[in-house]
Formats: sequence, C-alpha cells, structure tokens
Amino acid sequence: MTRRRPLIAGNWKMHQTVASSGTLVVEILAAIPPQAYDEVDVVLCPPFTALAGVALAIEGTGLQLGAQNVSAFDWGPYTGQISAPMLLEFGTRYVIIGHSEVRTQCGETDAGCSAKLRAALQSGMTPILAVGETLAEHEGGLTRQIVGAQVRQAFEGVSAVDAERCVIAYEPIWAIGSGRSDTPEDAAAVIAEIRTLVPGLDRARCLYGGSMKPANAEALLAQPEIDGGLIGGASLDAAAFALLVNLARKAIATR
Ligand code: PGA
Repeated sequence: MTRRRPLIAGNWKMHQTVASSGTLVVEILAAIPPQAYDEVDVVLCPPFTALAGVALAIEGTGLQLGAQNVSAFDWGPYTGQISAPMLLEFGTRYVIIGHSEVRTQCGETDAGCSAKLRAALQSGMTPILAVGETLAEHEGGLTRQIVGAQVRQAFEGVSAVDAERCVIAYEPIWAIGSGRSDTPEDAAAVIAEIRTLVPGLDRARCLYGGSMKPANAEALLAQPEIDGGLIGGASLDAAAFALLVNLARKAIATR
C-alpha cells in the first residue's frame, strides 16, 4: 500500500483573537515535540484576521499555516472575499473548502467548491475539501450518494495529477461538534469509497473530521484508510491537539 504522510489540521473556526491566537500557538509549539514534524504534517487554520500573527509565530518551526476558506477569484470586485494570492502572502499552504458550516450558513454549493478547489490548486496551495452527510441522510442510508455527489462535483475537470495533491476531509455533519464521532469502520469504509470516485484520489490523503479527540483518535487512526484528522474543538486545546499529533505518529509507525 502507498504510504501517505499523515496530516493533523486544526480548524479554529471563528475562535481566537489576534492576541489569544498568539498564546495558543506558543502553547501548541511547546506541546508538540519538534521531531513530530518529520513524520506528520501539522496545520493550523486560524481565522483570517489571525493569519499574519500566526504566520510570524510559526516561522522556522514545523507548524504549517492553513486558511478556512478562499475565493474562487484571484482579484476583483468581490467584497468580503479573500483570494488565494492574498493567502499566499502569509505563507498559507492549505485551505479548507466546502466545510459544512460554510455550505449551510453561507450557501456554499458544490459548483462553488469546485471553482475554489481549482483556484487553490492553481495557486499551489493544498485544498482540504470537506464533505459529509446530515443525520437524516445518514439514517436514511444516503451517505454514499450524498458524499459521492459532493466529491464528484468538486473534482469536475480536475486532472488525476491535481486530485492526488488534494486532501479530502470526510466529516459527517452530525458528528461535528456533537461529541458523537462516526465509528472507525464506517468512516474508513466511506473514505475507501471516496478514493474510487475520481482518478488520483486513491493516492490523495483522506482525513476524518467530527468530534475527533484523544479518546477516540487512536481507533480512527488505526484504520489504514484514515490519514489524519480535521480537528475543530480539540484543536483549541494545545495539550489535546498535541496528543492527536502524537497518536498520528504512532498510527503510522504501526502500519
Ligand atoms: P469538531 O469540528 O472536531 O469540533 O467536531 C470538526 C470540524 O468542523 O472541522
């Protein structure tokens, strides 16, 4: 099996001021042993306003920077939007696209995700495409259909070479922030199927997201299909986040 480099990404959502993000980064840097970065990609995705400060704070460390959204356009009359070239100014290497909160609260569509994905790829950043089903869809047995459509539409017109550079985060919506994560077996099965949908995705990294925390991460990361996590709540706690990085290291060591 191809060895994929594990990735632990912290999605801070709309948490942290410029000042408090500085404190959190210092705590995270102190909690993660520097050797961890040789084995695991560790990414922080703060709010846009904290990107500059976090970029400075992580300079010369192994931590990497991500953003929570990006415009499909590079420049122009797009009030309130932030483009890939703007994010690159801070050294942003990753960007979350299609998070369920953006889909539901901001009307993000699969076509919109596709345009953003291509913009991110063109800029050289690594898109983290978030996909997932609602509780009703889950209970109605529609998970594969819903997630399949999200993935296929987002990757419309994307080459296999580019698809391979992307990251997919499978995040069942009912698991996000709920304290109730998916079972490792179910999450791995959905991810295994995602890999078959688009040429190149068999080699792309696929994360699990949704109430991932130290207590359940070991079992989730033990699944060879799961290459890491997109972490919300637990990424705001330096000790918990560092534990997740360590569990990802351990998981690859045993594969
Ligand atoms: P959670 O969030 O870990 O708090 O469930 C994950 C996410 O929304 O990316």
